[in-house]
Amino acid sequence: MTHGSLSLAAACLAVTAAAVVAQPGADPESPQFLSHVVAKLATLHRVTAEPHPMDDSTVTACVPTYNPKIHEGELQPAYCHVYVTADARAPIESGEGSYGEGAVIVKAKLESAEAEGAMLYTVMRKMAAGYDPEHGDWEYAVLDGTNKRVLSRGRIDSCIECHRHYAETDFVTRSYLKQE
Ligand code: HEC
Repeated sequence: MTHGSLSLAAACLAVTAAAVVAQPGADPESPQFLSHVVAKLATLHRVTAEPHPMDDSTVTACVPTYNPKIHEGELQPAYCHVYVTADARAPIESGEGSYGEGAVIVKAKLESAEAEGAMLYTVMRKMAAGYDPEHGDWEYAVLDGTNKRVLSRGRIDSCIECHRHYAETDFVTRSYLKQE
Protein backbone atom coordinates (compact mmCIF):
# COMPACT_ATOMS: atom_id res chain seq x y z
CA MET A 1 0.00 0.00 0.00
CA THR A 2 1.38 3.36 -1.02
CA HIS A 3 0.05 5.09 2.05
CA GLY A 4 1.71 2.58 4.40
CA SER A 5 5.12 2.82 2.80
CA LEU A 6 4.98 6.59 2.84
CA SER A 7 4.46 6.71 6.57
CA LEU A 8 7.20 4.13 7.03
CA ALA A 9 9.55 6.35 5.03
CA ALA A 10 8.58 9.34 7.15
CA ALA A 11 9.21 7.38 10.34
CA CYS A 12 12.66 6.32 9.06
CA LEU A 13 13.56 9.92 8.26
CA ALA A 14 12.57 11.03 11.74
CA VAL A 15 14.68 8.29 13.34
CA THR A 16 17.71 9.17 11.18
CA ALA A 17 17.43 12.87 12.01
CA ALA A 18 17.28 12.14 15.73
CA ALA A 19 20.27 9.79 15.53
CA VAL A 20 22.41 12.44 13.81
CA VAL A 21 22.28 14.71 16.84
CA ALA A 22 22.37 11.85 19.35
CA GLN A 23 19.25 13.09 21.11
CA PRO A 24 16.89 10.14 20.96
CA GLY A 25 13.32 11.20 21.47
CA ALA A 26 13.83 14.70 20.17
CA ASP A 27 13.18 15.58 16.57
CA PRO A 28 15.46 18.47 15.52
CA GLU A 29 12.66 19.74 13.31
CA SER A 30 10.26 20.08 16.20
CA PRO A 31 9.76 23.46 17.90
CA GLN A 32 10.45 21.78 21.26
CA PHE A 33 13.86 20.50 20.22
CA LEU A 34 15.87 23.33 21.79
CA SER A 35 13.85 23.05 24.99
CA HIS A 36 14.82 19.38 25.08
CA VAL A 37 18.52 20.20 24.60
CA VAL A 38 18.53 22.89 27.29
CA ALA A 39 16.61 20.67 29.72
CA LYS A 40 19.49 18.18 29.39
CA LEU A 41 22.21 20.77 29.85
CA ALA A 42 24.15 18.44 32.16
CA THR A 43 24.78 16.13 29.20
CA LEU A 44 26.52 18.91 27.25
CA HIS A 45 30.16 19.94 27.64
CA ARG A 46 30.68 23.06 29.74
CA VAL A 47 33.27 25.36 28.18
CA THR A 48 33.53 27.87 31.03
CA ALA A 49 35.48 26.69 34.08
CA GLU A 50 34.03 29.47 36.22
CA PRO A 51 30.98 31.68 35.72
CA HIS A 52 32.12 34.28 33.22
CA PRO A 53 31.41 37.94 34.04
CA MET A 54 29.46 39.05 31.02
CA ASP A 55 30.60 41.77 28.72
CA ASP A 56 28.86 44.93 29.97
CA SER A 57 27.22 45.50 26.61
CA THR A 58 25.71 42.02 26.51
CA VAL A 59 24.23 42.25 29.98
CA THR A 60 21.68 44.53 28.42
CA ALA A 61 22.03 43.76 24.72
CA CYS A 62 22.33 39.95 24.58
CA VAL A 63 18.63 39.71 25.30
CA PRO A 64 15.61 39.91 23.07
CA THR A 65 15.04 43.63 23.38
CA TYR A 66 11.76 43.27 21.55
CA ASN A 67 10.39 41.28 24.49
CA PRO A 68 9.96 43.91 27.22
CA LYS A 69 8.78 41.33 29.78
CA ILE A 70 12.27 39.89 30.21
CA HIS A 71 14.08 43.15 29.67
CA GLU A 72 13.47 44.55 33.10
CA GLY A 73 15.87 45.92 35.67
CA GLU A 74 15.87 42.95 38.02
CA LEU A 75 16.49 40.54 35.16
CA GLN A 76 19.87 41.92 34.15
CA PRO A 77 22.24 38.98 34.49
CA ALA A 78 25.88 39.53 35.17
CA TYR A 79 27.47 36.11 34.64
CA CYS A 80 27.21 33.29 32.17
CA HIS A 81 28.19 29.69 31.63
CA VAL A 82 28.57 28.32 28.11
CA TYR A 83 27.78 24.73 27.11
CA VAL A 84 28.26 22.95 23.78
CA THR A 85 27.29 19.69 22.14
CA ALA A 86 30.20 17.25 21.66
CA ASP A 87 30.60 18.08 17.98
CA ALA A 88 31.15 21.78 18.81
CA ARG A 89 33.91 21.16 21.30
CA ALA A 90 36.89 21.19 18.90
CA PRO A 91 35.98 24.41 17.05
CA ILE A 92 35.07 26.33 20.20
CA GLU A 93 38.17 25.26 22.10
CA SER A 94 40.57 25.87 19.22
CA GLY A 95 38.85 28.85 17.62
CA GLU A 96 39.53 27.20 14.29
CA GLY A 97 37.32 25.73 11.61
CA SER A 98 33.58 25.92 11.42
CA TYR A 99 30.83 24.13 13.32
CA GLY A 100 29.01 21.15 11.84
CA GLU A 101 25.30 21.06 11.16
CA GLY A 102 23.41 20.28 14.36
CA ALA A 103 26.01 21.82 16.70
CA VAL A 104 24.39 23.69 19.58
CA ILE A 105 25.91 26.34 21.87
CA VAL A 106 23.98 27.38 24.96
CA LYS A 107 24.78 30.44 27.05
CA ALA A 108 23.15 30.29 30.48
CA LYS A 109 22.74 33.72 32.01
CA LEU A 110 23.18 33.77 35.76
CA GLU A 111 22.05 36.39 38.20
CA SER A 112 25.26 36.05 40.19
CA ALA A 113 28.37 33.87 40.20
CA GLU A 114 26.72 31.72 42.91
CA ALA A 115 23.30 31.40 41.29
CA GLU A 116 21.98 27.85 40.96
CA GLY A 117 19.58 28.16 38.05
CA ALA A 118 19.83 30.31 34.95
CA MET A 119 17.55 33.29 34.37
CA LEU A 120 17.62 32.93 30.64
CA TYR A 121 19.30 30.87 27.97
CA THR A 122 20.51 32.18 24.63
CA VAL A 123 21.23 29.53 22.05
CA MET A 124 22.95 29.19 18.68
CA ARG A 125 22.23 26.13 16.56
CA LYS A 126 24.01 25.34 13.30
CA MET A 127 21.43 24.71 10.61
CA ALA A 128 21.76 23.13 7.15
CA ALA A 129 23.74 25.08 4.55
CA GLY A 130 21.51 27.70 2.99
CA TYR A 131 19.57 28.58 6.15
CA ASP A 132 21.36 31.94 6.46
CA PRO A 133 24.56 31.61 4.40
CA GLU A 134 25.68 35.22 4.93
CA HIS A 135 25.80 34.71 8.67
CA GLY A 136 27.10 31.16 9.01
CA ASP A 137 23.72 29.38 8.88
CA TRP A 138 23.08 29.85 12.62
CA GLU A 139 19.66 29.77 14.19
CA TYR A 140 19.44 32.02 17.28
CA ALA A 141 17.05 31.37 20.13
CA VAL A 142 16.11 32.66 23.55
CA LEU A 143 14.70 30.30 26.18
CA ASP A 144 13.06 30.99 29.49
CA GLY A 145 15.28 30.12 32.48
CA THR A 146 12.63 28.32 34.49
CA ASN A 147 10.61 26.17 32.13
CA LYS A 148 13.04 26.20 29.17
CA ARG A 149 10.28 27.37 26.86
CA VAL A 150 11.48 28.82 23.56
CA LEU A 151 10.61 32.52 23.68
CA SER A 152 11.90 33.30 20.22
CA ARG A 153 14.05 31.73 17.58
CA GLY A 154 15.16 32.11 14.01
CA ARG A 155 17.47 34.46 12.12
CA ILE A 156 17.13 37.10 14.85
CA ASP A 157 18.46 40.41 13.56
CA SER A 158 19.43 41.82 16.96
CA CYS A 159 21.62 38.77 17.66
CA ILE A 160 23.19 38.76 14.21
CA GLU A 161 23.98 42.47 14.56
CA CYS A 162 26.61 41.62 17.20
CA HIS A 163 27.65 38.13 16.23
CA ARG A 164 28.42 39.13 12.63
CA HIS A 165 31.58 40.80 13.99
CA TYR A 166 32.91 37.33 14.88
CA ALA A 167 32.83 35.87 11.36
CA GLU A 168 36.46 34.73 11.70
CA THR A 169 35.46 32.21 14.36
CA ASP A 170 32.23 31.22 12.58
CA PHE A 171 30.19 33.92 14.40
CA VAL A 172 31.01 32.52 17.85
CA THR A 173 32.61 35.13 20.15
CA ARG A 174 34.62 32.76 22.40
CA SER A 175 35.31 35.82 24.57
CA TYR A 176 35.05 33.77 27.80
CA LEU A 177 37.92 31.57 26.54
CA LYS A 178 40.29 34.40 25.73
CA GLN A 179 42.94 35.51 28.19
CA GLU A 180 43.27 39.21 28.85
C1 HEC B 1 25.78 43.49 22.15
C2 HEC B 1 26.27 42.38 21.36
C3 HEC B 1 25.52 41.05 21.40
C4 HEC B 1 24.21 40.82 21.07
C5 HEC B 1 23.15 41.79 20.62
C6 HEC B 1 24.01 39.37 21.23
N1 HEC B 1 25.17 38.77 21.64
FE1 HEC B 1 25.40 36.81 22.06
N2 HEC B 1 27.29 37.20 22.75
C7 HEC B 1 27.90 38.43 22.77
C8 HEC B 1 29.15 38.35 23.55
C9 HEC B 1 30.14 39.49 23.82
C10 HEC B 1 29.26 37.02 23.98
C11 HEC B 1 30.35 36.43 24.91
C12 HEC B 1 29.80 36.18 26.32
C13 HEC B 1 29.45 37.45 27.06
O1 HEC B 1 30.33 38.25 27.40
O2 HEC B 1 28.24 37.67 27.29
C14 HEC B 1 28.09 36.32 23.43
C15 HEC B 1 27.88 34.95 23.55
C16 HEC B 1 26.80 34.28 23.02
C17 HEC B 1 26.68 32.85 22.99
C18 HEC B 1 27.78 31.84 23.36
C19 HEC B 1 28.57 31.54 22.05
C20 HEC B 1 29.51 32.66 21.63
O3 HEC B 1 29.23 33.32 20.60
O4 HEC B 1 30.52 32.88 22.29
C21 HEC B 1 25.44 32.58 22.49
C22 HEC B 1 24.83 31.19 22.29
C23 HEC B 1 24.80 33.85 22.20
N3 HEC B 1 25.67 34.87 22.52
C24 HEC B 1 23.52 33.97 21.68
C25 HEC B 1 22.92 35.19 21.39
C26 HEC B 1 21.53 35.35 21.02
C27 HEC B 1 20.52 34.23 20.86
C28 HEC B 1 21.33 36.70 20.84
C29 HEC B 1 20.05 37.41 20.47
C30 HEC B 1 18.93 37.21 21.37
C31 HEC B 1 22.60 37.37 21.11
N4 HEC B 1 23.54 36.43 21.45
C32 HEC B 1 22.80 38.74 21.01
C33 HEC B 1 27.43 39.59 22.18
C34 HEC B 1 26.12 39.77 21.77
